[in-house]
Formats: sequence, C-alpha cells, structure tokens
Amino acid sequence: SDQSVFDVDVWTLTRFVMEKGRKVKGATGELTQLINSLLTAIKAISSAVRKAGLNHLQGLAGQVNVTGDEQKKLDVLSNDLVINMLHASYGTCLMVSEENENVIYTPAEKRGKYIVCFDPLDGSSNIDCLAPIGTIFAIYKRASDGEPTIKDALQPGNQIVCAGYALYGSATVVAISTGTGVDFFMLDPAIGEFILTDRNVKIKKKGKIYSINEGYAKYFEPAVNEYIKHKKYPEDGSAPYGARYVGSMVSDIHRTIAYGGIFMYPANEKSPKGKLRLLYECNPIAFLIEQAGGIATTGTQRVLDIIPEGLHQRAPFVAGSPDDVEEYLSFVKKQK
Ligand code: AHG
Ligand code: MN
Ligand code: MN
Ligand code: MN
Repeated sequence: SDQSVFDVDVWTLTRFVMEKGRKVKGATGELTQLINSLLTAIKAISSAVRKAGLNHLQGLAGQVNVTGDEQKKLDVLSNDLVINMLHASYGTCLMVSEENENVIYTPAEKRGKYIVCFDPLDGSSNIDCLAPIGTIFAIYKRASDGEPTIKDALQPGNQIVCAGYALYGSATVVAISTGTGVDFFMLDPAIGEFILTDRNVKIKKKGKIYSINEGYAKYFEPAVNEYIKHKKYPEDGSAPYGARYVGSMVSDIHRTIAYGGIFMYPANEKSPKGKLRLLYECNPIAFLIEQAGGIATTGTQRVLDIIPEGLHQRAPFVAGSPDDVEEYLSFVKKQK
C-alpha cells in the first residue's frame, strides 16, 4: 500500500459535492455551485475568526438584530460574506439570515432555484473569550414559480435539500448532509480546502454527557429539572452523566454527534418557546442529528415537522443520542 503521508488523490469537499451532483439525473450543477460559494464564505469567516484579535474584529457593531441580540462585528462581517458569496453563486432566489429582519431577495439577474436559511455566526457571546463559534445553514428548493415570496422561505425542515454547519474550533470542520448521512470535512489551511475525515458519521445510541444552560433551572418546567436530577443522581445505580455546555450551539452539537449524549435548550418561563430559532438554528441541526441517527424534538413534536409561521420564530430544542432523547421524552410524558 501507499505509505506516503501526502494524499495524492485527496477527497476535498468541493470534489465530494461535484461528484454527488454528477450522480443526480438532470442535475444542472446549480446546487454544487451554491455550496462551493458558501464554502468560500465559510473559509473567509474562519480566517476572520482566527485573526479577530489582531484585526480589531472583536466587540460590538452597535446594532441590535430583530431577535434582540446585540450584533457583534463578526456577526455583521460573516453575514455580509455569506450574502455576497451566495448572490455570486447564481443559485439562490431568497435567503433568511438571523441578522436580517426580512427575507433577502437575490437580484433578478442572479437568481437560481434555491433558498438558504443561515446563522452566519453562531455563539457570538463566545467571540471575545476565544471559545468555539460556528456557522449554520439549510438549503431548500423553491416550491413555487414566478416571483419568489416569503412563503417559499417558510418550508418545514423535512423539505431540506442540504444542511450543515462549520465549527471554528481548535480546527475548522464542516459537517454536511444532503440526506444520505453526515460527513465531516476538516479545513487544511495550507491548501484552503476541506478534506473528508469522517464518512457517514453515526451518533452513539446512548451517551454519557448532558448539555444545558442549567443556570435557568429556576424557570424550567418540572420535567426538565426532574430529568437533570436523574442525570446527576441516577436511582438505578448507574454512573451520573458528565456536564458540558459551551454556549455555542454548533459546538455543543458537534460534541454531541462526536461523543453522544443530549443537548437541550428547552422552553422556560422567561422564553416560553426557548431561545433557538427554528429556520436557521433548530431545523438544520435537527436534520443533521437525524441523518446521524439521533432524535431532535421540541418535547412534544419532531422539530423537522413544525410548519413555520415566521422567519425568526423560536422553538424548544432537545437533540442527541436516541436513547437519551427518548428518556427525556419519558419524563415529559410522566409530567402530564
Ligand atoms: P447566536 O450567537 O447565533 O445568536 O446564537 C446563540 C445561541 C446558541 O449558539 C447557543 O446555544 C445559545 O444561544 C446559548 O444561549 P444561553 O446563553 O441562553 O445559554
Ligand atoms: Mn445572535
Ligand atoms: Mn446561533
Ligand atoms: Mn448568530
């Protein structure tokens, strides 16, 4: 076998996406172009994140977005990068971004048939302490003809064509799925390409970690607190779970897919629908979790089956290893 440490037939994400596109009958290459443009934005964001401290990119931009978050400079820069690269791909007609109150229409001469919902920079509160942050996206095909309208953007997550995230952690990784499993690609900064490192990743049936902002315990529903108590003081003699909570959804989810366990951002008294936003946080992540063999639920419903009513609506979100999420659901049932 080839003992060389330098792969001369390397599987980059660009190659992977092109190859997949070739296998789809009648494919025009539009989705391939769209994804490649999005990857360019992700590479640029990765570079900006790594140099934020040097290039005065830390701190606030001075505006508040529609969901009430103070925008950081990196939120704004990342948003502009994604929008501009997607316009340049000729693959989109509409976009929904956390940082834009309204849908973003692609100029008529650059329109394609896809809709992209994205969170350009996830975990903004972690920027200034150098903890991991990310980017999240979901791609849909438009369902109507004629002028695109907001309705085209309000599709349920079960219509996703492709979803993924980039995690700017100790390395930059992209997790992506087109509905046939989840693959991980690691950014090799030397060649500026994402290299396939983990194919068809599957989440453990049961994990050993729970992940929730427990500081809100006072405001949780009893079922959530009962479940957490059970993780800390198991009555059946099993070992208690470890606790991990980064506070960047992408980071907490990447760990959950890699190590197993459960991630939760449930409803609480202060935010009756939780905090995470359905279109560009819950849905893409739920799609990936399911593609990895996990479960994503609001506690009462499959996340991907929610019919969206607003661009920035929130949803309670619990996702992870199937046995762990089922166990949580049994606590929800007990409470009723
Ligand atoms: P964003 O930075 O894109 O606004 O998202 C922040 C989200 C998400 O990444 C994370 O899971 C959650 O906020 C953390 O919220 P708490 O600080 O309330 O735990
Ligand atoms: Mn935000
Ligand atoms: Mn986010
Ligand atoms: Mn964000």
